[in-house]
Amino acid sequence: MSVGGRRLWKIAMGAGRKRWNARRRASHLIVAAAVVAIAGAAHADDRAAAADGSVQAKLSYCKDCHGPSAQGYHGFYPIPRLAGQQPEYLENQLQAFIEHRRTNNIMFNVAHALSTGMKSALAQHFRDLNPKPAADGPRQLVAEGKRIFEDGVPDSNIAACAACHGPEATGVRQIPRLAGQLYPYLIKELTNWGKERGQNIAKPDASMVMSPVAHSLSKSQVEAVAAYVSQIR
Ligand code: HEC
Ligand code: HEC
Repeated sequence: MSVGGRRLWKIAMGAGRKRWNARRRASHLIVAAAVVAIAGAAHADDRAAAADGSVQAKLSYCKDCHGPSAQGYHGFYPIPRLAGQQPEYLENQLQAFIEHRRTNNIMFNVAHALSTGMKSALAQHFRDLNPKPAADGPRQLVAEGKRIFEDGVPDSNIAACAACHGPEATGVRQIPRLAGQLYPYLIKELTNWGKERGQNIAKPDASMVMSPVAHSLSKSQVEAVAAYVSQIR
């Protein structure tokens, strides 16, 4: 669980250090449930902030979890980098959490409190941030990952990532930027694709495009390509 989560806990519940420490001893499951509750508790305040047009208040809420420059955060589970992300992709993912196309309880609670105008204001802000890349994957895998990114894996019918995500992995429109993204987050997405994305059969979406790629990559190929993109500026 993240420092951001802890801070939110304290802000939302007015909890002192002692109370937090007691909570910290609870099982991971309870802690994870607490984050969901916090996100829920905090969003009532945030709805008022949005009504005031207070994009700044909302941004600092996002950054409690996603990091001060939205560079991502290595917590209990990885919280992705939003910095430099394509606005269209970012807004579509917020909508995907709301419509249960993408399953994540924390982000469901966060996203469904955002107005359309707020979503695009936040997306524009994140696009312009440019912190250092995560570069947190094993270095020895980078060369192999670069090959997969640029050429795909012809033997397994895997298209080159660069063909869609762009030669610099910056993405375009609904195709996300991968450059600088957290290694453990990339691993999680590529490994769990069919369990987390495209989950609302009534609303097929862009996750279908990525699905065959994610399913065809082997574990070691996932690790290599994630190590490569995590260190791209
Ligand atoms: C309580 C912590 C928390 C807060 C607050 C939070 N997020 Fe998140 N966010 C997460 C986690 C965890 C994930 C990863 C979800 C997953 O694994 O699918 C995530 C994922 C996302 C994604 C998907 C990114 C991608 O690359 O696909 C977007 C977009 C996002 N958050 C936007 C926001 C915005 C905008 C805000 C502020 C309004 C915000 N988040 C606030 C925890 C948080
Ligand atoms: C045919 C186009 C296409 C190709 C080829 C492709 N992708 Fe994607 N990728 C997409 C689209 C579209 C999305 C957004 C899916 C969504 O909206 O859920 C995506 C999403 C992703 C994500 C999720 C990012 C996030 O922030 O959650 C990762 C990771 C990813 N792709 C990695 C790769 C890798 C690695 C390769 C090469 C082995 C690759 N992609 C090849 C189109 C493609």
